[in-house]
Amino acid sequence: MMKKSSLILSLLLCAASLFAQKADYNIVPLPRSIEADTTKTFTLTADDAISIAATAADTETAQAMERNAAFLHEYLLEEAGLDISIRHADKKAGIQLRLLKGKEQIKADTPSPQDAYRITVNKRGIELAANTPEGIFRAVQSVRKMLVPAVGTSYNQHFKNIATNGVKFDYAVINDAPRFAYRGQHLDCARHFFSTDFTKRYIDLLAMHGINQFHWHLTDDQGWRFEVKSMPELAKKACRREQTVIGHNCGIYDATPYGEGCYYTHEEMRDIVKYAAERYVNIIPEIDLPGHMVAALHVYPELGCTGGPYQVWPIWGVADDVLCVGNPKTLDFLKKVLSELCDVFPSPYIHIGGDESPRVRWKKCPKCQGKMKELGLKREAELQTYVNKELENFLAQRGRSIIGWDETLEGGLSPNAIVMSWRGYEGGIAAAKQKHHVIMTPTSHCYIDYYQLKNTHDQPLAIGGYLPMSKVYSMEPVPSGLTKEEEQYIMGPQCNLWTEYVLSPDHVEYMTLPRLAAMCEVQWLLPEAKDFEQFSKRLDRLQQAYRRLNYKFCRRWE
Ligand code: ACM
Ligand code: ZN
Repeated sequence: MMKKSSLILSLLLCAASLFAQKADYNIVPLPRSIEADTTKTFTLTADDAISIAATAADTETAQAMERNAAFLHEYLLEEAGLDISIRHADKKAGIQLRLLKGKEQIKADTPSPQDAYRITVNKRGIELAANTPEGIFRAVQSVRKMLVPAVGTSYNQHFKNIATNGVKFDYAVINDAPRFAYRGQHLDCARHFFSTDFTKRYIDLLAMHGINQFHWHLTDDQGWRFEVKSMPELAKKACRREQTVIGHNCGIYDATPYGEGCYYTHEEMRDIVKYAAERYVNIIPEIDLPGHMVAALHVYPELGCTGGPYQVWPIWGVADDVLCVGNPKTLDFLKKVLSELCDVFPSPYIHIGGDESPRVRWKKCPKCQGKMKELGLKREAELQTYVNKELENFLAQRGRSIIGWDETLEGGLSPNAIVMSWRGYEGGIAAAKQKHHVIMTPTSHCYIDYYQLKNTHDQPLAIGGYLPMSKVYSMEPVPSGLTKEEEQYIMGPQCNLWTEYVLSPDHVEYMTLPRLAAMCEVQWLLPEAKDFEQFSKRLDRLQQAYRRLNYKFCRRWE
């Protein structure tokens, strides 16, 4: 017969284990390998500590590790309600952050070894190990997501349970590394402007999903958002349009000025660059040229083939008015802009646009035709290549490479241009065959300005199209028909969010989530590891975190 006291004790233990919160390793993106022993667990409680192992080689690394520890501290508080202290070289601490040196370093099959990490759980606790602070950051993000409560458990209940019983981690060795080195996400802040605070909130989302490149579309026909100190009138006047067409270019206007004062100062952009860098996100700024320039032409009409006047464009679509590339002032203008762009953005890549630039004005413009004659060019498309080559050289002197949309193939690529393939895979295939690097963003799988649900009646107005989350998930960024060598030129994929019809931060989030989660598995997982059904279950849980963080997201998916 069991004694009464031991019966009560075992009942209590049973109840405790019922309410013990378990870290779940099935996160988004799913780690490459998880070897878990579910019979043994390590329990993390508020009495534990995070320790930074004493291995930092220099101040920068030491600071990066301090930040990593601070992020983990913040996430443990947010996701588990645990306020855990940060220590240094304390071997007894339950969580260890350790940089690996020499032979210890992780040798994963990845083009991005700085992102690789390993999480080990055993009786000593939880170790996050990586070759670089960036890898540790990825591990920290993963632990954060492992702590999210199970579907059906409220955060309140989750925190209560953890306060009494801690969080249980199965013993495990988890290894992870991304499939692609380039993992991008784009946002258009030209058609509609988004505050610096919101831009940071968007960068937080990218970091949470292991995305490391933020493609920031800063200028377009309908608005110019980049301050150029040497031309103070530019952003001031070009950021504002008098009115905006209603709906899909219905011909009626809202008679409401938009965008007064809506541009980013250098100080604001530098602050965002720093914020992003601390989260291992590089910002690729885009100045779209020679088309998509009507806002700038409004301020400097002499840079257009007809001389204007031009209004900051109140409609959507492709404008015939583009920069006059026969006018030497145009290159001077662009170099002034790009020079300041380089001052603000340390990115190794600068995006110079190049999409949707009609050549009708160039065909009739004496200056443009004169330039063609002078250079011995046969087709107007080659004029665009002439500009791209000039700018590629200009930027190369500043240590930068150019990225251009796939139209830049039409007049011949400049020698080191990276191609962003958007009208399909074809541009990317052609570029890779020419030994140019490629970023894959085909509309078919990557345009998240399209509707995400088939039934559009209860959806906010979108540009059109239909891109369900399952289709994003199904994307294969490396097309067939390339040799093994050519495949190496595919740097990685990204989703694009154009904002003609996306007016508010809530709407940006709604269009982005959860398709961003699907894209991050395309970016991280090997093709054979992808499984949409399993992913959907992992996403169910991640959505608890979206909800807690107050991100708007589409709650149904197709
Ligand atoms: C684009 O979507 N016009 C690049
Ligand atoms: Zn011209």
